[in-house]
Amino acid sequence: MSEPVPPAHRWGSLQKTANLQLGPNGRLRHFLTLEGLPRTILEQILDTAQSLVGVTDRTVKKLPLLRGKTIVNLFFEPSTRTRTTFELAAKRLSADVLTMNISASATKKGETLLDTLRNLEAMHVDMFVVRHADSGAAHFIARHAAPHISVLNAGDGRHAHPTQAMLDMFTIRHHKGEFHRLRVAIVGDILHSRVARSQIHALNILGTGEVRVIAPKTLLPSCPESLGVQVYHNIDEGLRDVDVVIMLRLQRERMGSALLPSGHEYFQLYGLTEDRLSLAQPDVMVMHPGPINRGVEMDSQVADGPHSVILQQVSFGIAVRMAVMSLAMRSSEAIARDLPA
Ligand code: NCD
Repeated sequence: MSEPVPPAHRWGSLQKTANLQLGPNGRLRHFLTLEGLPRTILEQILDTAQSLVGVTDRTVKKLPLLRGKTIVNLFFEPSTRTRTTFELAAKRLSADVLTMNISASATKKGETLLDTLRNLEAMHVDMFVVRHADSGAAHFIARHAAPHISVLNAGDGRHAHPTQAMLDMFTIRHHKGEFHRLRVAIVGDILHSRVARSQIHALNILGTGEVRVIAPKTLLPSCPESLGVQVYHNIDEGLRDVDVVIMLRLQRERMGSALLPSGHEYFQLYGLTEDRLSLAQPDVMVMHPGPINRGVEMDSQVADGPHSVILQQVSFGIAVRMAVMSLAMRSSEAIARDLPA
């Protein structure tokens, strides 16, 4: 049964969402999209994550920041890294966290998303982390949730994946420092990728020198230049002198069959090999949000090679998600205090 969420968002139409996610004090209370957020908020997330990154190396990997809070991960779509790192982040902040196995839940018996939400609210939940195949699902939940509840988007359809983009920004800043000097290329299935959309917004908000997208025409949205990116169809041209390469998986689950190139064909034209990587800067970083399809978007030698920071992205994801959770919870608590008793 389909969920009653709004129709898919288009590129560049989410200003209202950005307003919804800031509380009256201008602080982050939901985290739904990066579009329209001020640079100060992104920098606050990165700086907070920086202060939390060491917790993971401690013998006791815990802080009491969210003690007594209840967080529910609502994953309506499969996930490995995002689900587990959100769960670990909540545990490391001492929250009570549960991850709902949606395939076994009452939505399969015909319950609407709103009814599921109301039932969970009745259990005094403080935060929802939502992944859903429909663009706009997290936004919909944020609009309908009780005022003290924060909603974090863990990926909605093709629309946005803001915590993934922020952990990517954290990884880039960790290695390269300032963004204004950098040339960053995002390669592959831009059209269906919520990660690419959020990364483009993040890179632009943080003042990146040059953001390139490299993809065949069929895997690009219409008018990609309007997003503030340089468009390349030839990977060898697009990779020249870049400091960061972000590879994307072909989102086959979101494609019509007409768009589907064979893995082998795609690799010949757009796969990242050591030879192609040598066109970039000598200290280029190679990134990928995972899951990787080896031999489709990249060679194993590159995925496991000296330029790859792919597993470090996963580790940093915990600190970045801890940062977003603690910032959003702080705002919701302030809002809750101002509510009439
Ligand atoms: C991405 C996603 O689910 O959007 N993965 C992730 O969250 N780590 C990208 C993908 O599935 O290709």
